[in-house]
Amino acid sequence: MSQPNKSSLTEERIFKPSKDFSKKARIKSMAQYKRMHKESIEKPGVFWAKEAKELAWQKKWTKALDWKAPYAKWFVGGKLNVCESCVDQHLTNGRANKAAIIWEGEPGENRTLTYRQLHREVCNFSNVLLAKGIKPKDRVMIYMPMTPEAVIAMLACARIGAVHSVIFGGFSAESIVDRLEDCQAKAIITSDGGYRRGGVVPLKKNVDDALKKYKAVETVIVHQRIGKEGAPVKMKRGRDVWWHEEAAQVSSKHEAKAFDSEHPLFILYTSGSTGKPKGILHTCGGYLTGTYATCKYIFDMQDDDVYWCTADVGWITGHSYITYGPLANGVTQVMYEGAPNFPDFGRFWDLVEKYGVTIFYTAPTAIRAFIKAGDHFPESRDLSSLRLLGTVGEPINPEAWMWYHRKIGGERCPIVDTWWQTETGAIMISPLPGCTPTTPGTATLPFFGVDAAILDETGQEVGPNEGGKLVIRKPWPSMLRTIYGDKKRYRDTYWNDYAGIYTAGDGARRDKKGNFWITGRLDDVLNVSGHRLGTAEVESALVSHKVVAESAVVGRPHEIKGQGVVAFVTVKAGVKTSDAMAKELRNHVGHVIGAIAKPDEIYFTPALPKTRSGKIMRRLLKELVATGKVSGNITTLEDHKVIADLQAQLKK
Ligand code: WT7
Repeated sequence: MSQPNKSSLTEERIFKPSKDFSKKARIKSMAQYKRMHKESIEKPGVFWAKEAKELAWQKKWTKALDWKAPYAKWFVGGKLNVCESCVDQHLTNGRANKAAIIWEGEPGENRTLTYRQLHREVCNFSNVLLAKGIKPKDRVMIYMPMTPEAVIAMLACARIGAVHSVIFGGFSAESIVDRLEDCQAKAIITSDGGYRRGGVVPLKKNVDDALKKYKAVETVIVHQRIGKEGAPVKMKRGRDVWWHEEAAQVSSKHEAKAFDSEHPLFILYTSGSTGKPKGILHTCGGYLTGTYATCKYIFDMQDDDVYWCTADVGWITGHSYITYGPLANGVTQVMYEGAPNFPDFGRFWDLVEKYGVTIFYTAPTAIRAFIKAGDHFPESRDLSSLRLLGTVGEPINPEAWMWYHRKIGGERCPIVDTWWQTETGAIMISPLPGCTPTTPGTATLPFFGVDAAILDETGQEVGPNEGGKLVIRKPWPSMLRTIYGDKKRYRDTYWNDYAGIYTAGDGARRDKKGNFWITGRLDDVLNVSGHRLGTAEVESALVSHKVVAESAVVGRPHEIKGQGVVAFVTVKAGVKTSDAMAKELRNHVGHVIGAIAKPDEIYFTPALPKTRSGKIMRRLLKELVATGKVSGNITTLEDHKVIADLQAQLKK
């Protein structure tokens, strides 16, 4: 079981929102939070129905929740079109000419789409999809850079009832193949390329490579982001079409038809403890309710806010807190295509100043990179428009929290440290900015309707400051419905530890005030720069190289990334190892999965430490890379010399 680390146990600084902030916030006091949280846990259906009512439904539900563990149905009998809540409703509520998306490309050009323009684009692209024969429940893969068209593509899929599966643009062609095979996508929406750190990511080319292996895709729609000079692409006749050419041929009028509340909305792949990524399935009514309500209360979105979430739409954060939640709230948001350090580490702060960002949501790994880059970047920009800051993706170390508070928040902005997962769909544990006292390093308290607890192996709640497994004891609207095509894995992964209770896979403890401190994953999943990566995935990528016989991958603390990837590799007999070989293996992993999975270090070893029954003793490797030593019980280890050899290598 995970143990809380010492520094977090001694962290006691408390920061409270200013009176001014609280006065204007939706939830103004802890008394109000506590009362609402209690009611929401006692009667979740009542709380969530009240939130759901604020969305656009074409037919009201008859029952808020139907729960047959581990399967939930929310707003049963209700019908809605998710896109109507995110876009259409704003045409008649006074927001038609309000900026929905203020976009800036990495090279510096910008574009603003009002809600009316966004509506036009989404309707137009919905008609493109329909003309290509896309039907409700068909899977459509989206592999695009951070452009408004990525959001438009997602919304258009939702509008016609198709199920999108967005793949992060940093993933390789091979990763696309695996996901295509799993969800059997009929169409792909991509771009000729996207700008990243001054270069062009060849997205369409990666799609072409993937489609050499997976042939069932009928249509590839290509958005022209770069143009022929920068990203020449080959178009396959009968399969590939240009977005703008198709769009010119169809109307920009489209009536949104309602779908069942439990109609599938999207599949998003995430890493688990086996080599095969899990297709997390989310559905319409509940997911939208969860993302809508969390934006409203946790980001306290107001009509004059300028909100910016720096995530990529390829991750759940981009789905919930760029596309669905913010648009359902009718907020104005900034969207940025490129890297935080292009042309230098001042770019984010330039954008904050230029567009007057008021709410800023980013990841601890980015904050650590900014700290390292130097204070002069934020100090030379005017960040006074900011009123609220957020973080997500991994536990934030107190030093990074304090820097964020001082240098970005000017000591006046509350920080919401939001804990959640691809599976939970929406934020689960977080401060409410107008009332919750915050302490650096803790995500504090559960959101409304979230019955979070920490249990020991026997299912008992642990005492204050004792480590245990983080669980959610009651269903919530934005929870995953299943793992696409694999109900057994769904039950085994999340519902097997305790009957009817969701196990998150994270270790945690609660302090005396009830604050949750997340200590990290309990399974073989790493968190690299806020992204989930299965050690088994990296291992299978390594083993797919012709010289590799066996490998074991573990995480180690990393200054910027949170966790770094360390690989131990045994090569086949007769193969000579070298630095060049290590480099080749790194690149191979990058090629098979994507750059984020490249090992930071590779150690060659004639054998891996194993038990007599042949199981790799990862615990030893983890300890070895973290401390240079191994402690505890190693009597089951088959060959003690292996450890001594590795120790000597690591010292070097
Ligand atoms: C895992 C989920 C949720 C969107 C981004 C990642 C870790 C996430 C926090 C936080 C401590 C966090 C957990 C979780 N995590 N947010 N505020 N404090 N840990 O989504 O890829 O589904 O990963 O990220 O370990 O299980 P994801």
